[in-house]
Amino acid sequence: MHRVIISGIGVEIPEASITNEELVASFNSWVDMENIRREVSGEPLVQKSDSAFIVHASGVQTRHVIEREGILDPTRMAPRFPARPDEALSLEAEFGIASAGKALDHAGLKPGDIDLVICSASHHQRPYPAIAIEMQQALGTKGAGFDMGLGCSSAAAALHIAVNLVRAGAHKRVLVTTPEIITGHLNFRDRQTHFIFGDASVSMIVEGLAQGEKRPGRFEVLDTRAWTQMSNSIRTNLGYYTRATQDDPYMIDLEGNLIKQIGNKVFKEVTVAGHKFIVEFLAEHGLTPQAIRRFWLHQANARMNAMILKLSFGHDVDHDRAPMVLERLGNTAAAGAIIALSENHADMKAGDYGLLCAFGAGYSIGGALLRML
Ligand code: COA
Repeated sequence: MHRVIISGIGVEIPEASITNEELVASFNSWVDMENIRREVSGEPLVQKSDSAFIVHASGVQTRHVIEREGILDPTRMAPRFPARPDEALSLEAEFGIASAGKALDHAGLKPGDIDLVICSASHHQRPYPAIAIEMQQALGTKGAGFDMGLGCSSAAAALHIAVNLVRAGAHKRVLVTTPEIITGHLNFRDRQTHFIFGDASVSMIVEGLAQGEKRPGRFEVLDTRAWTQMSNSIRTNLGYYTRATQDDPYMIDLEGNLIKQIGNKVFKEVTVAGHKFIVEFLAEHGLTPQAIRRFWLHQANARMNAMILKLSFGHDVDHDRAPMVLERLGNTAAAGAIIALSENHADMKAGDYGLLCAFGAGYSIGGALLRML
């Protein structure tokens, strides 16, 4: 059994951003237009969105996106990703490669050192050929590549697999990449969800630690864990059978099949499950939350993370113990906890423990217990 480390982390945040005010202004312009139409057709009217509600309910102030003009155009309400020929690099692979290059540089490795690419994200651009294989070709990595997904736990679940493949000796160095282009799947006409998500790409290099090797400043992965329990509270129905469910199979009801969630139900249920996961996972290693120098939690809701930590510790926990990047970036799905890790570990000392814990659709929770070398 090999000891395993995360030797490199890379983060790519798109340059363009949207403030709550901009998002709400475009949403409310669309509501005005839509309600004129609905008054004529007799359908129920749509309610307006409100930026004060968004900050209070979620903590999000801005989100970064791949393309903002299409999202903010009230006559469109979706990003504009021009179609590319099959021979060109696809958008998801391009976004993954942007963070993968940084992770490789951070690890001091070349693409040829990698023998497996796992591309794990909440939404993939297409089912095949796997995005990971496209990245394998474009980067020049060896071995194999495959895609997987587990909602907002996608990166943590891929880490779970990568760590155990390296530990068992099946692969030497794995690139785990999570390019999250959530805006491609978000319903910007749904006031319950339109404000939640942003785009971001993260990558990690997972490799073995040779006998006697010292890698100061890197994290050893002591253990990983995954937990799932079926829930429809966060769901998308868009897929191959969507067409076959329609009266007119070539006029798909797209909007009704995009992401939907019962936010307050998710909040309550995942808070309870998340805190239980953390306490039990740590207890298996003879640790309590107090022994953990830093928590990098899923970045979905500031109040939710505060509640999970309060339940785990028995008291409130400050930003230094569990930093948030949500305010600036929105919920970047599976990328969020890894961004929190990447931005908040430089001050940690050798021997310090850290806990990565992501949670979301499924329900799913993924965790990794780390120790600074
Ligand atoms: N602007 C103004 N009002 C809004 C609104 C908006 N954009 N969106 C919803 N509301 C309204 C609701 O309609 C509701 O009105 P009502 O009381 O008249 O029915 C009210 O605000 C409260 O809605 P609710 O959904 O209960 O809000 P909330 O406090 O639970 O916050 C979330 C919503 C989504 C921010 C929050 O539930 C959350 O973050 N949940 C966890 C999500 C999560 O972790 N997902 C994981 C996936 S990664």
